[in-house]
Amino acid sequence: MRVTVLGATGYGGMLLTRLLARHPEVKRVIPAARSAAGEPFAQTDPGFPRTGPAASKMDERVRSPDEALADPGDLVFSALPHGVSAEVCLPVLGSVPVIDLSADFRLDGADRFRSAYGREMPVPDLQSKSVYGLSEWYRTRLASADLIANPGCYPTCALLPLLPVVETTAPVGPVVINALSGISGAGRKAKALLLYAERTENATAYNVGTAHRHHAEIAEQLLFHGLADADGSDGHLHPSVLFNPHLIPMKQGMAATIVVHTESAAAAERAADALRGRYEMEPFIELTGSEPPETRHIRGTNRVRIGRRIDGATIILMSVLDNLWKGAAGQAVQNMNIRFGFPETAGLSDGLEL
Ligand SMILES: NC(=O)c1ccc[n+]([C@@H]2O[C@H](COP(=O)([O-])OP(=O)(O)OC[C@H]3O[C@@H](n4cnc5c(N)ncnc54)[C@H](OP(=O)(O)O)[C@@H]3O)[C@@H](O)[C@H]2O)c1
Repeated sequence: MRVTVLGATGYGGMLLTRLLARHPEVKRVIPAARSAAGEPFAQTDPGFPRTGPAASKMDERVRSPDEALADPGDLVFSALPHGVSAEVCLPVLGSVPVIDLSADFRLDGADRFRSAYGREMPVPDLQSKSVYGLSEWYRTRLASADLIANPGCYPTCALLPLLPVVETTAPVGPVVINALSGISGAGRKAKALLLYAERTENATAYNVGTAHRHHAEIAEQLLFHGLADADGSDGHLHPSVLFNPHLIPMKQGMAATIVVHTESAAAAERAADALRGRYEMEPFIELTGSEPPETRHIRGTNRVRIGRRIDGATIILMSVLDNLWKGAAGQAVQNMNIRFGFPETAGLSDGLEL
């Protein structure tokens, strides 16, 4: 098949082109980007192999998004920023399958989208047709989807451990998600906040509680899977989920520690059993028992590691993934595999780093 990658100069797009060029079912990769349009591809990603089978699958020149979408091939990946992606993809939506790495089609609720992104949903009619691309949970719908909304990295890291738990037991009080992200999670842009001198030897929480835009995505999926919304019956509105992201001095990788209080020790045990039952057969999910998983063990892979500890009626979930792989490009290729009926692990063996 022939595939187009929009945003091929960004971190997500760069990893996508590398994964796709070594994918056994992909014969041609068309890189597209605004700023590098017309340039030799080798110049925009100097680390890409210069010779060999992967190099021979790449178009030599980067196209502009318009030029690429005039002849997009069999599938379009969009690794563009939210707010831009839907608009750029609009001309081909409905005629070619699109896997969108941005947040433009991830949310179902218009109010939730407005409050998270400060604007209206870009294409409300298509919103209801998009399928949320959390591969392990939406396989059946992904297999026939023409618009796949690839999840955010934080939501993937939080939802994979949490969904079996909230489906099994009702949390008591808010679920608290503390998460750490490497700097590449913010994209490949020039921003003072992302300078080495600002970030090295430095860690900080940001947009805590309900303030981060991924809060909406996590909360919506948890509601779909059985978490009761806050009722405010005591006169105060208590969010059912609190999400506390942190930026840490690491290039690639993400870790989440999630605290869920349940009604009893037995309920917490049931939740841990559900985790095992749900993921035992999953090729990209590894359960570490009570052992805390480490980001260095999954870097450059599509694998997610999940650990858990039970303290009385509380279950503490610990998960790690590579934000550019399972958190973005890797999961997007996994979704392509599901959509086109390829083996789900095709093209996703460990070991590519930017
Ligand atoms: N980084 C992660 O860990 C991660 C994880 C999950 C999801 N995502 C999502 O994936 C998408 C890509 O993320 P990223 O980290 O790869 O971002 P990035 O490194 O900042 O790259 C963004 C890409 O979009 C292009 N672009 C920027 N503004 C544009 C515009 N106005 N019109 C057309 N093209 C434009 C850039 O190309 P130019 O050279 O033309 O500017 C670049 O190729 C985002 O929506 C992000 O939220 C990222």
